Parts: sequence; C-alpha cells; structure tokens
Amino acid sequence: MATRREQYSGKTEERPKLSREKLRKALKIFSYVVPYKWTFIAGMAFLALGSLMFLAIMKLPGEILNVISGESQYGLSLNNIFVLLLILLGIQSVFSYFRVQLFAVVSERSMALLRNDLYEKLITLGIPFFEERRVGEITSRMTNDVTQVQGVVSMTLAEFIRQIIIFIGGVVIIIVSMKKLAFVMLITVPLVMFLAMFFGRYIRKLMRERQDQLAQTNVIVEETMQSIQSVKAYTNEGFELRRYTKQLDLTVRTALRAAHMRGIFAAFIIFVMFGALFFIIYQAALLTQSGAMPKGGLLDFAVYTAIIGGAIASLGSFYTEIVSAIGATERILEILEQPSEVALTPDSGVAKTRFIGHIQYRDVRFSYPTRKDIEVLKGVSLEIEPGQRIALVGPSGAGKSTIVQLLLQFYTVDDGNILVDGKPVSQYDLRAYRQNIAIVPQEVMLFGGTIRDNILYGNPDASEEDIVDAARQANAWEFISAFPEGLDTIVGERGVKLSGGQRQRVAIARAILKDPAILLLDEATSSLDAESEKLVQEALDVLMKGRTSIIIAHRLSTIREADRIYVLDGGQIVEQGTHAELSLLDKGLYNSLARLQFEI
Ligand SMILES: Nc1ncnc2c1ncn2[C@@H]1O[C@H](COP(=O)(O)OP(=O)(O)OP(=O)(O)O)[C@@H](O)[C@H]1O
Ligand SMILES: [Mg+2]
Repeated sequence: MATRREQYSGKTEERPKLSREKLRKALKIFSYVVPYKWTFIAGMAFLALGSLMFLAIMKLPGEILNVISGESQYGLSLNNIFVLLLILLGIQSVFSYFRVQLFAVVSERSMALLRNDLYEKLITLGIPFFEERRVGEITSRMTNDVTQVQGVVSMTLAEFIRQIIIFIGGVVIIIVSMKKLAFVMLITVPLVMFLAMFFGRYIRKLMRERQDQLAQTNVIVEETMQSIQSVKAYTNEGFELRRYTKQLDLTVRTALRAAHMRGIFAAFIIFVMFGALFFIIYQAALLTQSGAMPKGGLLDFAVYTAIIGGAIASLGSFYTEIVSAIGATERILEILEQPSEVALTPDSGVAKTRFIGHIQYRDVRFSYPTRKDIEVLKGVSLEIEPGQRIALVGPSGAGKSTIVQLLLQFYTVDDGNILVDGKPVSQYDLRAYRQNIAIVPQEVMLFGGTIRDNILYGNPDASEEDIVDAARQANAWEFISAFPEGLDTIVGERGVKLSGGQRQRVAIARAILKDPAILLLDEATSSLDAESEKLVQEALDVLMKGRTSIIIAHRLSTIREADRIYVLDGGQIVEQGTHAELSLLDKGLYNSLARLQFEI
C-alpha cells in the first residue's frame, strides 16, 4: 500500500504498465475531444500530409548528388531541384502551421472543458472526500495530471503518429529502393535502439526519483511558510534548515547518480550509435564503389537510416509519456466518477422554500467516515420549536459541533433521524435545504477578496443598501467605514488582515444577508474579548430574532436566555432544561460547569 504522500508525489507510477482495460478507460478522456473532432481530424490530416512531404523532401539531397555525378534517372537540373525544394518546403511550412494551430485549439478547448468538469465535480463533492485527501493531492490532479493529459492531446499523440508515419515511410522507401542494404540496416538499427531505450528508461527512473525528492524539499518549504509563525515562536529555524539541507543533499546525490548514467549514455550514443550508423554507411559505400548503387543512393541511404533511427528513439519516449498520461487520466477519472452530493444544473432553479424552522433529532447515532470505530453521537434526541433558541453545552469533544454539522448535512447519520419541519432532512433538495441555514463558526475563514465580496457571499444578488444595512446590524459598519477603502478593503488571504472579532462580524453580516430560517452559532463569541464580545453578542441577538437558533457556547453567560439548554457529555445528552431548572440540579454537570466559570 502506498502512503498518501507517495501518491501525491507520483511515486506509485514507478513502472507504468499498459493494459487493455486501462487503455479503454483512458480513452474516456477523449470524450472531451469529441466536440472538436473535426478540428482534430483536420489536424491529423495536416500531420499525415506533412510527414509524407518530409519524407519526399529528404529524397532531394541524394538526387542532387546524382545530378552532379551524372547518374540521375529523372533528367532534372540542379535549378529544377532547387525550385522543387522551395515549393515543397513552402507547402510543408503551411502544413506545419495548421497542424500546430489545430492541435492547440483542440487541446486548449478540450482541456478547459475537462478542468471545468473536474472543478464542478470537486466543488459538489461531500465533505468526507476532502477529509480523506490532502489539499496538495487534489490540486496536483487539477494541475499536473491535467497538464500531462493536455501534453498528450496537444503534442505527444501527434508526434507519436508523425514518427510512426515517418518510420514506416522510411522503411518502405529503403526496402523498395535498396533491398540489399535494407537487410543490414533492419538488423542493426533495432538492436542499437533497444539498448538505447533500456538505458533511457533507467535514466528516466533516476530523474523521476530526483523529481520526487525535489518535491519533498518543496513540501518542507511549503509547510514552514504556511506555519511561519509557529516556526519562529518555537525558534525552530535551525531545525527546519537542517531538515531542508538534508533533503536537498539527498536530491543532489540522486541527481548526480543520474548525471553519471547520463554521461555514460552520451558516451554510448556517440560510440555505439554513430558507430552502427557508419558501419551501415560503410556497407553502402562498398556497394556504391562496386557500382551497384548510384552515389546519390548512398546519401539517400544515410539520410533515411538516420530518420528511421530518430523515429524509433522518439517513439520510445513518446510511448512512456503516453503511458504516464494514461496514469494521470485514471486519477482524473477517479475524481470524476465520485458521486456528487449536490447537482449543479445550469440555472439551478431550486424553488426557494422557506422553512418554518421545526427541528427534531431522533436517537441519532453517528461516527465520522474517517474514524468509523469511534461513535461520536450515541443516540441524541432533541426537539426545537420554530423560533426557539436552544443551547448546547458540554466539555470539549462531547459532540456539540458534530450535531451542528449533521444538521448542515455535511455527513449522513448512521442511525436515527433528523427531521426539519417534520420531514427527514435527506428528502429535501440539498441546495434548497442549505439555503435555509446559516452558520457562524468559531474560526471564521474569509475569502481573499474585499469585505464586500465576503458579505455578498450570503446573497450574491443583494444591493449596496442591503450590504450596508447588514453590516450595520452586525455591528460591523463602524470598523468598515473607518477603513479608507470601506467595503472595498482587501481582507488578505483567509481574512488575516482583520481581527478575530471583525472577521466574525463580517460573517454575521453575511448570515444576515442570507436571511436563513435556521441559525447555527458554533462558539461564535468565545475567542473575543469582553468589548468585542458585547458587540458581536448584540449583533447575534439581532440575527437570532425570529429564527430557530442552535447556540454552542463555552461561556455560559451567553446562553442564559436560551429557551432550552442541552448538556452533552461523551456523545449523549445528560441534562436538559432552562438555565433556572438546570441550576437546581445540585450535582449536575451544568452546575459544575457554571461553578467552574463563576470561580474564574
Ligand atoms: N472531521 C472529523 N473526523 C473525525 N473525527 C472527528 C471530526 N470532527 C470531530 N471529530 C471527533 O468527534 C468528537 C466530537 O467532536 P466535536 O467537534 O463535535 O466536539 P465539540 O463538542 O464541538 O468540542 P469543542 O468544544 O472542543 O468544539 C471528538 O472526539 C473529535 O475528535
Ligand atoms: Mg466544537
């Protein structure tokens, strides 16, 4: 079993193998080329014509020699040949232009379609998919794997076919015009090429290893840059540098091993390959000397042998490229074949049904898909009337956030039922359903754009007035208008340029704009100081008016007003009631929590 990091760096593809099954699957990717099939076919036609033209042009140098030595069979003058050459080259360059252009159109357009589909799939997949994978792995599929496939569609496939045509054409020409020599050549060239490919494969393996190790060094850089504050706070600069240096050292060593092999390979090419080439030419020269072949034939022969050799050599590398692109295709298809959690129809015209806001949990049991063996909720039952505020309290890890996430249908329950307005949640259209719910989490992550963009996220159709109004209600307008750029202030990546309390008030404004029937507040005020907590609390009070709300809070002062408080411990509800009722339970968990906070 490969570890996740190995998959990420592509180590599992060490020896790409081709099977019919794989090939059949990979061809599915070609469904993205189908819309551009005529462009593709036209490109192929230019490719084939261009390759034949190339073979024809290569016949001319030999003919020139024949004309000079008076052995020409066609009665052409040097001027004739030169004019012919110019014409052929002219046609050839036009063909080349269209070949490159047409394949670029096909590959760019079809891969844009693929990227689009891939992104649509990703964004509609459920939360568990993302918990099972690293972000780096997913983005690498979007970028590296698609790029690899694109390379094949735009270039490699065309070149592969071109070299096949040239190879077959070259062999045919040699066999037809020089039977005796063809025999010598057809034994020598494949043998040498086979050796060269064997060598090449070994070197590529080393290069890939180097690539992986380089990727590892980049992981170190990435990780440390992402948590640069931790690195500095723990003064681990030296430690990280040593880690990096060590990894870099490994990379260099592998690279040098590869260089060593490349050196040997270069020596091999010069000696064996050119040796073989000259051996064949030597044989041809002997034939010419004995008068069995015109001088131009000798040149023809050398030229076509070189062309065939070149074709075989490049076929090998194109072949590996195609095989590894098939691997990439598989990884892409694996994502595309995942079931989406929501369907995005072109104008997702889901009728906006507004919930009344009655919520009921019936004996809900749940464990996270990534940790099936630990049951997080062990039979939770609760009921919330429309417009009520309930609170969830309890020690860390009790399952409070889990209850909220289940209501958002980020996960499905293992057993029991969650009903909204009397209907099991799974029976609603997921998008219409989630439109009725807003959440203000403890750690608000904003998008990198402006404050306006972030508030608009609650309702992209809102007017400027609505935005300002929402910001006012969220107690956010004061600080927003104090920025020179106002709503157009850039919040920085993930919102880092705002304070925690400011981020939270932006999130509240966003929730106000969404105007949900159900509101979920997960520790919305716990990381704030008293001053901003008061501001946020006021904003939340506005927001909660007329909505069914579930509040999770460590600070019990914030939930005194709740209609009902559920005390959760170890995935079970152990106490419930109003603040007054629970305070009466002398040995109760609620009371002990309250007492702890009171002492502090
Ligand atoms: N995505 C997840 N995958 C696997 N296990 C999880 C996941 N999220 C939470 N858990 C586990 O589920 C249990 C309940 O977590 P939950 O987040 O619901 O606790 P909580 O009551 O909200 O705690 P806190 O007050 O610290 O926020 C914990 O043991 C936690 O380790
Ligand atoms: Mg929590």
